[in-house]
This record gives sequence, structure tokens and C-alpha cells, in this order.
Amino acid sequence: MCGIIGYTGPRAATPLLLESLRRLEYRGYDSAGVAVLDAMTTSVTVVKSERKVDELARKLDEVGMPAGHVGIGHTRWATHGRPTVLNAHPHMDCTGRIHLIHNGIIENYRELRAQLEAKGHELPSETDTEVVPHLIEDCYRGNLESAVRHALSRVDGAYALVVIHADEPDTVVAARLNAPLVLGLGNAETFISSDITALIPYTKRVMVLGEGEVAEARAGVVTVRSLDGTVVEPRIITVDWDAEQAQRGGYPHFMLKEIHEQPQALRQTLRDRVDPDTGLVRLAGLEIDDGVLAGVREVHVVACGTAYYAGMATAHAIETLARIPARVSAASEFRYADPLVDATTLVVAISQSGETADTLAAVREARRRGAPVLAVTNVVGSAINHEADGVILMQAGPEIAVASTKCFLAQLVCGVLLALYLAELRSALPVEELRALAAETLELPDKVEGALQLEPQVAELAQRLAHLRNAMYIGRGANVVTAFEGALKLKEVSYVHAEGYAAGELKHGPIALLDPDTPVVAVATRSATLAKTVSNVQEVNARMAPVVAVVTAGENPFDDMAADILEVPAVRELLSPVVNVVPLQLLAYHIAVQRGCDVDQPRNLAKSVTVE
Ligand code: AGP
Repeated sequence: MCGIIGYTGPRAATPLLLESLRRLEYRGYDSAGVAVLDAMTTSVTVVKSERKVDELARKLDEVGMPAGHVGIGHTRWATHGRPTVLNAHPHMDCTGRIHLIHNGIIENYRELRAQLEAKGHELPSETDTEVVPHLIEDCYRGNLESAVRHALSRVDGAYALVVIHADEPDTVVAARLNAPLVLGLGNAETFISSDITALIPYTKRVMVLGEGEVAEARAGVVTVRSLDGTVVEPRIITVDWDAEQAQRGGYPHFMLKEIHEQPQALRQTLRDRVDPDTGLVRLAGLEIDDGVLAGVREVHVVACGTAYYAGMATAHAIETLARIPARVSAASEFRYADPLVDATTLVVAISQSGETADTLAAVREARRRGAPVLAVTNVVGSAINHEADGVILMQAGPEIAVASTKCFLAQLVCGVLLALYLAELRSALPVEELRALAAETLELPDKVEGALQLEPQVAELAQRLAHLRNAMYIGRGANVVTAFEGALKLKEVSYVHAEGYAAGELKHGPIALLDPDTPVVAVATRSATLAKTVSNVQEVNARMAPVVAVVTAGENPFDDMAADILEVPAVRELLSPVVNVVPLQLLAYHIAVQRGCDVDQPRNLAKSVTVE
């Protein structure tokens, strides 16, 4: 959603802010703005655009790149008020000296606005954010950091914000509560962002702000306090992502790059996770006692969107391998469902970003009820990691495209690793079987490489299907998840209506939708229920709907029943979604390209969804 960048140091702020805003575009936004503080004149120049960063850059060129070494920049994803210049951030106080950017939602803004207006403040925008610079103005007694803390003690809701004051020309103040914000520590300079990806070209030393903490940055010196003014020991981590990983590297889109990075991403996910001596899974960082894990009565997975589908696969793997009852809940529902979790339930929270508001809220609810919580995330230092008892890091590298691809595969693999580890702890499978499964898991990157060879065939198929208005995806067993995720990918990036179904469910309703213009993508690889899937495809055939089938190489069960056959490498059923979903990702991508869609930043979507 909204993106934040702040800077104080020796560099010219404006080009740095623009460059960083471009790096934050992937989060999804509709308008943008910057405020740059010139220490010589102690004045602030604000430039905003109701459109994209390119338009902002054009406006900045027009006014002649503002000078200054301190500044803030923002990409806004509209919640309160339309995407207009007036509503775009930064927002300012009545004096025009205080400027602020904000992600999150100020829940009591109506009441605060009424109080401020009664005191004579003028708030011309429709946003919730605008109350904050005016509150800071009210609290300001010559110290910005202190004023920010006092103002925030009156605010309810979620915020990641950065503030500058023309009277304190080398200072940037940042604060967060229930919204992500990190500080990059450079040589006599400080960068502040909603997102580690924006910082990695400048520094790998990252300070993670805790909930309700306020940081005051003056060039290279950062002091962190809690809202009551107590100085807090900062938490500093080193990020091992490379700046190149966050660039397109010759690919037309991040989504395609990330699809092709999947074998390498999985190698990283699997790195050091199967002991070469024993052949068994080892998960550093779990931090939950083996005795507790071995004794859990149930596993409850919480996640959203694609991560929810990975959660379904994880629950399936845990039930199949470790024989522990496992279920999955949409994180957005979990906290309101009076969930039956306690100290005997292992809650597994899956989230690429580690910042999804619904998943974070589910983690807090689970912990409140005494459940041990294990996070599966891709971003070190993220809020979910911080709040969970233990973490399995996906280690997939930065994922920039809004549509998740390589992180979905990494989530599936982490789910299998966890299931194998729990199975070992509970002696649910013979050691030989555990070893065989771990060895096959290690082969997955090569199998995914095999599936990527389908791209020319899929691209040609996409040309023929680009006009489609509806599509159905079906699968059985472990591959119900593959069907769900294939349909979600198509919806997200190409705006084609698509449904994923368990193949056996078709005849209970959705078969009514089938006609010659509704292709059915059938995942029909080697499995215990393949013959049943073949029968379901026969039912599809009888309705004249064209069939695209994903089958195991050399094991096509369809004769001429399927118009298009996509052959993927053979993998045991439990692991097969990791391989089978690859042609479906490529299909969604190429259809979206054919339809001229904005593949990396689909309309209405945001990379990390930090509001409920
Ligand atoms: C994936 O393609 C989607 N953009 C979306 O469903 C995503 O998986 C979901 O919002 C959860 O995000 P998270 O993994 O960062 O928590």
C-alpha cells in the first residue's frame, strides 16, 4: 500500500526521494508527493501529483529540483478521500513549517479534526492523516521529537509516519504503530522507509522500530524512545538482499523475472535445512521447544490470499505426514471467530511481507489465547516475525511484483519442511520415509526448472486464450490448491474472471457455467485420484468446454480429450503443487501481457496490505 521514504544526510534529497519512490511503486499507489527542506533558507518545498511518480518527476523538473539534504516522500493508496493533489501526502500544519507523511489509518480523526477546527486550525484535505501535523503544531514547544510523541499519545489507530520541521533543518522524526517502518543506517546519513527494498541500494544495516517507538534522526545519529520518552535500545539487523535482486535485470516485468527465479529462490529456501549427515530436516530459528511442538493437539494456519492457499497445502502436508489435525483460516476471519486455540495449538502464520494487517492481528489474537505462534515469512525484521515465538524464513529474496509467485513456492516448501520436522518429532513416519521425502524436496528446484521449459508453449497458448472472459481451474487432492492459486493469478494480473474448484465439485454447481468459450484448466498429474480427475474432464468435454491439461511428462491420460497438454516433470503428489503451478503462473502472466495489463501493479491491488 502507501510507500514512505525519508532522508537526512549529505546527499541531495530530491533525486534520492524520487529514486526511492520509484522503488516503492510496486507496493501499489495512486498519487505521490515530496517535501524537501533547504537548511540554507530554512524553507520547505512541497510538490505533489495526483498521478504516478513520473508525473511528480515532471512537476519537480518544472519547479527546478528543490535543493536540500533533508526530505520526505510518499506514494499514497487512497483510503480517506480520492487521489487528488490536496489529499496526496505530505500534509502540513497551519504554519507551513511542519510536513508529514503517513501510512495507516487514524481511527479517531473525526473527533480530533473537530477539536482542532474548534481551536482555529484549517484542514483543507479529506484525509485522516492531516490531523497529525496540526496536533504536532499544537504540541510544539521547540522540540519536534517531543511534539510528535505528545501528539501521537492522542491518536488511535495505525501509523508509520515521518515528520520534518523547517525550524529543525537537520532532523527527521519517524514513528510507528501497527504499520511497517524501518531505518537504514548509512555513513553520517539516515534513510527511513516503509520497506527494506527501498533501503538496500544505500545500506544493509537496518534499524527496526518497535511498536509505539519514535526515532529522531540527525544525519547519522538516531535516538529511539517510546511514546513516554524512555530511551529504547534500538534493534539493528543486517539484510542480505542485493540491490540487483530488486531490479528487473533485463526482464520486461518483475513477475516474469520472479517466475524464472523460482529454482534459485527454492535453493535458498532449502539451504541448510536438510542435514547432509542425517538426511533429516533441521529448522534453525524455530525457537519453540521441540517438546511443545511434539505435544500439540492441533495446527491452525492463518494467512491471506496466495499465502492462504500455501496455508491449505501446509495444513494438508502436516495432516498427511505428521498426522496432526490441521486447519487453515483466512486471517481476516480468525480474530473475530472466537477461535478454539490455546497452548496446545500450534498457530502457523504465513505471510510473504510479514506485515499483512489481518495476519498480524491473527498472530496477536493467537498469542493472547496462549498459543505458540510460528511465522513463515520472507522479510527479516518484519512485524509478524517480531511478534511470533519462532520464524521459518522463506529466504526467497525480495519479491516486487504484486502477484506472488516465487514466495508462493517458497511457502509451499516451508510447509513441507515443517510437516517433515513435526512428523519426525512425533515419530509419525519411519526415518527412511522422512529421508526419502527430504531428498525429493531437495530435487524440487530442478523440477521447477523443468516446468519453466514450458514457457514458449504457454506463451503461444496465451495468445489463443487472451480474449477469454471466464476460466475454470480444477484439481484434486494436493492440487486443489494449485487450481485455486492458478485462478487467483489469472484474476489478479489479467482481470479475467476465473474460479478454482476441487474437480469433484464441478458437477455440484459450477458445471452450469461451462460452454465452448470457458476453458477449463485441469491439473491432472500423477496422483491417487488421477482416474477421478479424468472422469471430471470427460464431464467437461461433454459440455464442449476446451480443456488445458497439466499432466506428468510421458503420462498423458487424456488421448484427445484435452485441446492443450502441458507436460511437467514427475513429482510425488504431496510435493507436486510446487511444480504444477509454474505453467499456471506463466499462463496468467502471458495472458495479462496479451491483454495489455499492468502486470506488476495490477489495478486496485497493493503488495503489502497493511489495513484491515
Ligand atoms: C498474491 O498474489 C496476492 N497479491 C495476495 O493474495 C497476497 O498473497 C496476500 O495479500 C498476502 O500477502 P502476504 O503474504 O504479504 O501476507
